[in-house]
Amino acid sequence: MSESMAGLKRTHYCGEITQQLLDQDVVIMGWVQHRRDHGGLVFIDLRDRSGLVQTVFNPQEDPATHEKSHDVRAEYVLAMVGRVRRRPDDMINPKLKTGGVEVFIRELRVLNEAKTPPFVVEDHADATEMVRLRHRYLDLRRPRVLNNFVVRHNVSKITRDYFSGLGFLEIETPVLTKSTPEGARDYLVPSRVNRGSFFALPQSPQLFKQLLMMGGVDRYCQIVKCFRDEDLRADRQPEFTQVDLEMSFVSQEEIIEVLEGYVGLVFQKILGVKLPRPFPRLTYDQAMSQYGIDRPDLRYGLEMVDLGEVLANSKAQVFVEALKSGGQIRAINAKGAGKFSRKQLDDLVAMAIGLGAKGLAWLRLTAEGFQGPLAKFLSEGEKQGLIGALKAEVGDVLFFGADSAEMVSHVLGQIRVKLAEDLDLIKTDQFALTWVTDFPMFEFDPQTKRWAAKHHPFTAPRDEDLGFLETDPVKVKALAYDLVLNGSEIGGGSIRIHRPDLQNRVFATLGLSKDETREKFGFFLDALDYGTPPHGGCAFGLDRLVMILTGATSLRDVIAFPKTQKAVCPLTEAPGGAADQQLLELGLKIDKNLTP
Ligand code: AMO
Ligand code: AMP
Repeated sequence: MSESMAGLKRTHYCGEITQQLLDQDVVIMGWVQHRRDHGGLVFIDLRDRSGLVQTVFNPQEDPATHEKSHDVRAEYVLAMVGRVRRRPDDMINPKLKTGGVEVFIRELRVLNEAKTPPFVVEDHADATEMVRLRHRYLDLRRPRVLNNFVVRHNVSKITRDYFSGLGFLEIETPVLTKSTPEGARDYLVPSRVNRGSFFALPQSPQLFKQLLMMGGVDRYCQIVKCFRDEDLRADRQPEFTQVDLEMSFVSQEEIIEVLEGYVGLVFQKILGVKLPRPFPRLTYDQAMSQYGIDRPDLRYGLEMVDLGEVLANSKAQVFVEALKSGGQIRAINAKGAGKFSRKQLDDLVAMAIGLGAKGLAWLRLTAEGFQGPLAKFLSEGEKQGLIGALKAEVGDVLFFGADSAEMVSHVLGQIRVKLAEDLDLIKTDQFALTWVTDFPMFEFDPQTKRWAAKHHPFTAPRDEDLGFLETDPVKVKALAYDLVLNGSEIGGGSIRIHRPDLQNRVFATLGLSKDETREKFGFFLDALDYGTPPHGGCAFGLDRLVMILTGATSLRDVIAFPKTQKAVCPLTEAPGGAADQQLLELGLKIDKNLTP
């Protein structure tokens, strides 16, 4: 029984119908949010992208149209013609923009019917995420869901305007390409024309943007899809979007200045928040020693303090052993944690042990002095040393890690986050940014027993560290920087290597033979030989940025058609099988029994 909209032209969006339109005729189109039958009067709330408006059908005034309104169900698509009226005083809804008025309907057309939806389309849908994603088109009709995409659109627009204003060119880079190393597995696409060969989907446009600099483009910025086959988490998707940019003839400081301008503008325009500039900075070493992680959440303190000196002559076995074997002792002062129950303390110890620690010593400072498993081993001098180093007061609890530097960082880094939760220190409307700079150039991979690039192998080492490249790679720091927001890495970049000799030395340190580098990056090494300008850049995770700006808890909330943790799309059910004929053409045979 659906009807045509022929002859009707929408005059207003539902959400625009306010007092200003009193006594005017309007044509509205949208979905049925709700139909209420009050015995006589029928009310239909009509929804479109802009909001809701109440419509009324009166059996006395217009019996035929009133009769027709009885067939309408939730999510039917309607076109209606009517006149805007003031609502009776007792029916005014101050929570709704359109709550002072209603539209008295004289023509109703059902443009389309709808099955009963699997969940009610309203802000507080109680359906599981799987059901919502399978019916994402219904989910998107919920204002709260749609709002994330409005914000995302606005961020993209600000991005394009800002960078374009500074002379950046948006240039598209290929999706069917060669492997680009960003530390994840590639998604491969088999080539039919070149049987047995594969394209890789780009993990980032890294090499192409460098080639653009070699091409004299000078400033490039692209909003671009990247593809990484990696284990998924709440803040990782296999297919995600970067704000990717690159600049020529610039220093790290000049790049950081442009990027701070960008992030500052986004926060100001989207949230009305003025971020203080310059943004704070930490070196990688500072971040690791104070927070145990290279992307610290700085919305709260709980810094780690090194106690190697204070406890150098400790009698406590756990401390003696850690120092003797070249390890460290660090502690966090959890201010006010004196109120924690014994169970809460035991849970923290269990968590530390679960993370690989041998234990988690704690000391509670009470009016009678320190209490805790190791209190009896502390000398008076050590007690005073702890109070001074950790600024401890009565009511505080100190938590200790004594182990290798890596283990202490790993364990106390996560205990710190848990303490912040338990002490209710995390404010969701607060934004704490920091740059993390001076990353190590390499990290040792114990599995392959080789050095791997911490950022990517095109990152430039600091000039002053070049001497260690062959002799002591662990000492080489990179001209690399990450931007961290509330404990999430929202962007990362570096100054690149622009000299072929240095690029070859870095490849050699990574244990790549000449043949391997030619096979993987021959085209790029060739290009480096033809006059490459000094250059550098950065990429922001657009999804992560929008996630934080909207207060979403998962990247899936800010991606219209996302994948689940199992890397499948519940809506399309991709990935799916391929037809025999397709496989034949590609020269592929599937053997599910093969294991890597
Ligand atoms: P990087 O690998 O650090 O750098 O990526 C840049 C930013 O992209 C975001 N990001 C992701 N977001 C969602 N899901 C993922 N799986 C995912 N992986 C990364 C993060 C990260 O900060 N080519 C370099 C940049 C450069 O050197 O210019 C690169 O891709 O927010
Ligand atoms: P133990 O000597 O094993 O009985 O441990 C004494 C206290 O020190 C307990 O509270 C343990 O949780 C804690 N502890 C043990 N090993 C470590 C360690 N490596 N770092 C921090 N605390 C530890």
